[in-house]
Amino acid sequence: MNYYDQVAEAAAFVKAHLGSLGARVGIVLGSGLGAAAAAVNDPVIVPYSEIPHFPQSTVEGHSGRMVAGLLGGASVIVMQGRVHFYEGYSPLEVTFPMRVLGMLGVRAVVLTNAAGGIQAGLHAGELVVLSDHINLMGWNPLNGPNEPRFAIRAGAGKRFFDMTEAYSRPLRMLAKEEAHEDGFALEEGVYLATPGPSFETPAEIRAFRALGATLVGMSTVPETIVARHMGIEVLGISCVTNLAAGLGTKPLSHEEVNETGKWVESRLASLLKRVAPRIAERVEMEE
Ligand code: HPA
Repeated sequence: MNYYDQVAEAAAFVKAHLGSLGARVGIVLGSGLGAAAAAVNDPVIVPYSEIPHFPQSTVEGHSGRMVAGLLGGASVIVMQGRVHFYEGYSPLEVTFPMRVLGMLGVRAVVLTNAAGGIQAGLHAGELVVLSDHINLMGWNPLNGPNEPRFAIRAGAGKRFFDMTEAYSRPLRMLAKEEAHEDGFALEEGVYLATPGPSFETPAEIRAFRALGATLVGMSTVPETIVARHMGIEVLGISCVTNLAAGLGTKPLSHEEVNETGKWVESRLASLLKRVAPRIAERVEMEE
């Protein structure tokens, strides 16, 4: 079975479980950032393990299920857990869930992640909205034949397409407004993606800073590229779980990343609850 048909089969399976829930907003929760899934009302839960062709997360802190329901009153599909390239998944597998979201009718996604803070002044526990990214994964999930049938908007699905505003400016503005209402300032930052799984060396972090990166992580970028290929709007939110290598006082660890994630996930959940209905309103207006 070809890739497109596999995505279609997975989407049909999920759709059958969700019934009448026609979510236009998708949310991907990163490492240790699952709390927002618990804020979903009237949840319909579909474990990834039940979805045909769906990749399974092997990392601690990533649970691996779709949770559909109401967040802040808006119909959403939350992906609690994602798979990464460093787990051994191919670029097509890493971005399979994003293709499924597109086929389910999602028109805007919020991609969250845990990230190391590179820019001076960032501290662990801070949320940062992504303004742009730098792809240093060494590959692009669109390598290979183009599949225009994945397009969800007119003009999308092209071989070559624009990435000048990969992270939607209106969605960034809206997230900053809601953070402000919630009592904190949300700064913008540039996310640099590495293939992982080792954390970076201090020399790499100095190099990344010189390149213009604010944050570093091992996810999100492939999903953003594929979402933009389909014509899906993207809001990216990083949770700074640690200062990047060489900037803090202790060695980096996955435990530290998860610990900080736990501590800020409630703030992220609160922000997502505010942002989801605003995004839903926006995408429904254009229909
Ligand atoms: N580097 C890469 N990925 C990460 C980090 C980091 O410091 N923290 C959380 N994810």
